[in-house]
Amino acid sequence: MKNNNQTTVHLGAHGAACIHHVRFQSGDLIAQNIHPDIPKPAEYNRWRIKRKETFLAGRMAVRSAQQALGLTHFDVLRGGDGAPIWPSHILGSVSHTENEAIALMIDARQSSLMGVGVDLEKINSGSQLEDESMIGLPEEFRILHSIGFQSECARLLLFSLKESVYKALYPSVGQFFDFLDVALEAEQEGVFSLLVQRDLSEKIAMGCRIYGGYKQVNENMITFAYF
Ligand SMILES: CC(C)(COP(=O)(O)OP(=O)(O)OC[C@H]1O[C@@H](n2cnc3c(N)ncnc32)[C@H](O)[C@@H]1OP(=O)(O)O)[C@@H](O)C(=O)NCCC(=O)NCCS
Repeated sequence: MKNNNQTTVHLGAHGAACIHHVRFQSGDLIAQNIHPDIPKPAEYNRWRIKRKETFLAGRMAVRSAQQALGLTHFDVLRGGDGAPIWPSHILGSVSHTENEAIALMIDARQSSLMGVGVDLEKINSGSQLEDESMIGLPEEFRILHSIGFQSECARLLLFSLKESVYKALYPSVGQFFDFLDVALEAEQEGVFSLLVQRDLSEKIAMGCRIYGGYKQVNENMITFAYF
């Protein structure tokens, strides 16, 4: 396994938070039977090694975040909808690529935040996102172009920001919603603001604002969202 570390991100008035990374070589986590005590979902045994490892690495990143926050140990199970099941006092999110996982966790008892999300993408993966009209409207891309993000890079950033937004909002929405249900409204000094475009649930109405940011770490783009 490669070294683990952390990335500090700034969540506006809510202060700084730590994203925890677990990097691994493909095959190592299974071969070394690392953390056999991590509870696995029923479908785990049917997964390919690659998927088992991303799951394990995500939960290892969660453990690292728990320790850093000084929290009593808890397991994060996987819900039937695929979403992680967090204890009520925790806001959290997980993302992974094939050789890295990240987790962001906030102790909700010490924060006025209502949700957080993270997403991790390989910087060179923007070319796989061909249809930008599925990700955002021309106005949204114009905002990104005006601050120097062009073509594939702009697509990847908007895609990833919205994946982070999805993860942050999902616990308050409880069902699938689309990329065009949230729109990038503005960017100021590295902080993106996005607006919900229709009523998504009782808690998340049209006009609800959610903030986001990004960081480049090695070959990856990390985005995060909070509200
Ligand atoms: C769920 C989804 C966001 C996951 O993204 P992904 O790029 O496939 O995968 P990532 O590695 O970034 O994240 C995977 C992790 O997301 C988490 N996740 C899965 N479903 C989730 C949900 N509904 N809500 C919050 N987190 C979820 C899980 O922790 C999962 O990892 P695990 O299964 O190992 O625990 C994506 O597959 C999806 O369905 N998106 C819906 C459409 C969308 O994003 N719309 C944007 C609206 S603005």
